[in-house]
Order: sequence, then structure tokens, then C-alpha cells
Amino acid sequence: MPILGRLRYLEASPAANARPRGTLLLIHGFPLNSRMWEGQIAFAAARGWRVLAPDLTVVTKADATVDDFAAVAIDLLDGLHVEGAVVGGLSMGGYVTFAVVRHAARYVRGLILADTRSQADTPEGVEGRKKMLQLLRDQGPSAIADQMIPKLIGETTTRTRPEVAGQLRAIIMANSAEAIGGAINALMTRPDATPLLATIHAPTLVVVGAEDTLTPPSLAEDLHRGIAGSQLEVIAGAGHMPNLERPDAFNEVVGDFLDRRV
Ligand code: MLT
Repeated sequence: MPILGRLRYLEASPAANARPRGTLLLIHGFPLNSRMWEGQIAFAAARGWRVLAPDLTVVTKADATVDDFAAVAIDLLDGLHVEGAVVGGLSMGGYVTFAVVRHAARYVRGLILADTRSQADTPEGVEGRKKMLQLLRDQGPSAIADQMIPKLIGETTTRTRPEVAGQLRAIIMANSAEAIGGAINALMTRPDATPLLATIHAPTLVVVGAEDTLTPPSLAEDLHRGIAGSQLEVIAGAGHMPNLERPDAFNEVVGDFLDRRV
């Protein structure tokens, strides 16, 4: 994995036989890391994109915020002298994408908002995060994996592709307790991004798994309504992690958006 100063990231160069299309920056969800994007990185590189996927897990402070995570993404673009990118994020990665838009809209050539929402946590949501922080302190990352994995994957995947749970567990267990704790803080302190939606004019794809119970399709519809000209795609038979649960269907939707809209 390349390292740049304090940054760690996955990178793929555009395939030699493909027309170079630009840079795609992919931001992972909670409590995961850049490896959740491996299937998309290979796919987009084959279609001519340079793909970068930073690990937000380099941020290990307990009071981390989505702004700290956005700084990781922006520092990576700056460090590699990339002047513009299509920025995509799944779930927490979407919250971070909104923070990138807030701080550095000039870099954004397009947006992919997967299984995410613009709203901040509700007071009940914050209480749930505090309980999760306590669970992390008491029992460590494996307890977080136990709690999150059933929520991350949809019922079809649970029934037909149990190996996805193992993939997720391996990714989660590679992360430190400090990084997971900082991410929980970032989730529960994130601002409401709804006022930002009307300011977004970059081509935008909103994509969601039909069986997502964490950020259900109704929230994707809110994003689609809020961002003028955005495209909404629902991936059948997938939950909160459509890129891992139905990679071919997810890649087709993303590839079509990159080819036609950006
Ligand atoms: C994620 O997948 O990044 C988290 O589930 C987001 C959240 O809990 O709000």
C-alpha cells in the first residue's frame, strides 16, 4: 500500500489500452477501510480512471471529525498534485464527501453518493453511538464487527453469499480500536449536510441497495430530490454494501455514470 507522509491509500493507474479519463477518489464507510473498494478500483482503472482510495484509519484521535477525514482526502489529492476528481463515498464516506464539498468544492468534478444520507444523527442516534463507544472500550473491534456486520449486508446476501460477512470481518479487524473510536465520534458529531445539496452542480450519482436498512432508499430519494440533475439508482438484492454484495451490478451503474455523465 502506498504511503505519502501520514497518508495510506490504494491506487490504480488507468489501463494502458484505455483512454485516460481522470481521477476517481473513493472514500470508505464505517468501520471499514480502503480495501472495501478493491472491486471498484480494478474496474474503474480498466475503464481509464486513475483511482485513489485513502484509508481514513490513519486518523486515530478520539475527537476525530468528518472535517479531519475530508482533510485526509484533500491532502492526498494535493500531495499527488491532482487538481480535480470524481469523489465517491459510501455511507460515512458520503458524510466525508459532503465535508470535501464544503471545504474544497473546486476539486469536485462529479459525485457518487452510495448508501448515505445528508441528515445529521438524531439525539437517539447519538445515544446509540455512545453505547457503541462503550462497547468498543469494553470489548474491542470484534464486538463492533459482531454488531455492525448483520446491519451492513442485506437479507439476500445473508442468505445467498455468507462469505461477504467474512470479507467485512477481515476488513474491520485490520483497523485499530483508536481509528474505530475516532470514526464513531466523527459520525455522531457530523453536521447536517442538507443545506449543501442545493449548492451541488457537479454531475451526481445517488446509489443505494434496495435492502439497505441503515440508510434506506427513502434517504437516497431525499438526496436525489435535493441535488438538481442527479441520477438515482437502486441495486436490487443488496443492503448497505452494494459494492461488495453485488459488485457487477454496482460497477455497471458507476461505469455508466462515469462514461455518460462526467
Ligand atoms: C457506515 O456504513 O459508514 C455507517 O453505517 C454510517 C452510519 O452508521 O451512519
